[in-house]
Amino acid sequence: RLLIIDFGSQVTQLIARRLRELNVYCEIHPYQNVTDAFLQDFAPRAVIFSGGPDSVTRDGSPRPPKAVYDLGVPILGICYGQQVMMQDLGGRVKAGESHTAEFGRAWVAPSERTTDFFNGWFMDGTGREQVWMSHGDHVAELAPGFEVYGTSPGAPFAMTADLERRFYAVQFHPEVHHTPNGATLYENFIRLAGFTGDWTMGAYREEMIAKIREQVGDKQVICALSGGVDSSVTGILLHEAIGDQLTCVFVDHGLLRLNEAEQVVAMFRDNYNLNLIHADEADLFLGALEGVSDPEVKRKTIGKLFIDVFQKYADGIEGAEFLAQGTLYPDVIESVSFSGGPSVTIKSHHNVGGLPEKMGLKLVEPLRELFKDEVRALGHELGLPASFIGRHPFPGPGLAIRCPGEITREKLEILRKADAIYIDQIRKHGLYDEIWQAFAAILPMRTVGVMGDGRTYDYALALRAVTSVDGMTADYYPFSHEFLGETSTRIINEVKGVNRVFYDCTSKPPGTIELE
Ligand code: XMP
Repeated sequence: RLLIIDFGSQVTQLIARRLRELNVYCEIHPYQNVTDAFLQDFAPRAVIFSGGPDSVTRDGSPRPPKAVYDLGVPILGICYGQQVMMQDLGGRVKAGESHTAEFGRAWVAPSERTTDFFNGWFMDGTGREQVWMSHGDHVAELAPGFEVYGTSPGAPFAMTADLERRFYAVQFHPEVHHTPNGATLYENFIRLAGFTGDWTMGAYREEMIAKIREQVGDKQVICALSGGVDSSVTGILLHEAIGDQLTCVFVDHGLLRLNEAEQVVAMFRDNYNLNLIHADEADLFLGALEGVSDPEVKRKTIGKLFIDVFQKYADGIEGAEFLAQGTLYPDVIESVSFSGGPSVTIKSHHNVGGLPEKMGLKLVEPLRELFKDEVRALGHELGLPASFIGRHPFPGPGLAIRCPGEITREKLEILRKADAIYIDQIRKHGLYDEIWQAFAAILPMRTVGVMGDGRTYDYALALRAVTSVDGMTADYYPFSHEFLGETSTRIINEVKGVNRVFYDCTSKPPGTIELE
């Protein structure tokens, strides 16, 4: 197995993801936990140093134990990981200067030397490769034994290697999409390290099941089942791991889509022999949200009530000690700061961040390392129906964050009907699977229109549809004008209270997928 030592980069999980794509088993461990004893016990076949926000020129900055260099296994250092390697092995790193800092797209050019690790690079005849950089500091002097294989304007040692020791180090991030040929480097690295690439999602399922059993023991677990692919996979996985020790609670917060509650409950009761409680708490949630228009207050209100509601149901289940949630990696990275490294909170996701002590429940989050498409693959592995696996994601706070401004029952009613028509249109045109997520939002304004011979003063809707791989970045979907025209006409004709429809053409960034 492969060990990734995490120095706090925002994209460390992407390294793991690239390796899973290559069918290699890896584990990420924060540098603080990687001691000499840990290394000996883990016995990695290869090690990767992630990037990180610190500067190796600072006293007390994060380091791996020195013993890692004596294991005799290949090591790949990325960004901060490269700088750590150079500093530890006798090279020199220079602190940030504006003319050598590089953030975003950059190009590396090859030096005269080449080596297996860089196989497949510089092949398209342009003599350069696009890479994604994010560094202030840079390596100023290589450690003994290292040679340079590629350079960029701000990083004279962008691609380096010590062939004898099989140490490879790059200043850029080969794991992100903006390094288009990056996966090749991981492929080369694992081949050089002797991995055969025979690890599968089936194996991941078995590992997860074993981990769940180990964590839970003979205790009872309650699971927040929403009917989305994340919580469904979580529920089925837990059901497979611990059977009747699991009780699923489906909270109907009154912010679901048209007929959603009935469909979800029917699907789990009919197809799975799962303990399921249908908690109809619409009045509680909508009551608490009355008059609330601030997005963060909405999220926090819903998040808090979710916990209260779970507490209530958990209290009724004897011995319940755990709460299972389908938290995914993008939720984690956007909501939590890595200890020691500042990362900005964009939105407080209601299902992340740990539960308050008072609740007395521990978390089980078996999907915490996965990206959406990996969860779908796992769902497939678990035999979930394709119609469930392929469902667009739906956020925990539900329609609340698709209703900017104050939430009223009237608005929700309009939104539900319009959203159902929009999705129906998308399905009819065979576009559902091409789109990562699509939904309608009701805007906090009324506009004037004319219908028949009368004046209308009704709500405006925004339609949103995006393509994405992992929810972290997204592009708006380029519907034809015909589709947009037809959909807009259908919504306005069929839904009372709407007289205008907009299409949202914002990508992420700068927008987010949801409106709040
Ligand atoms: P944003 O709006 O942050 O959304 O670009 C990215 C993805 O996350 C979903 N989302 C949530 N999912 N709880 C969830 O379970 C939440 O609080 C939440 N907020 C956003 C969103 O639908 C999109 O798929």
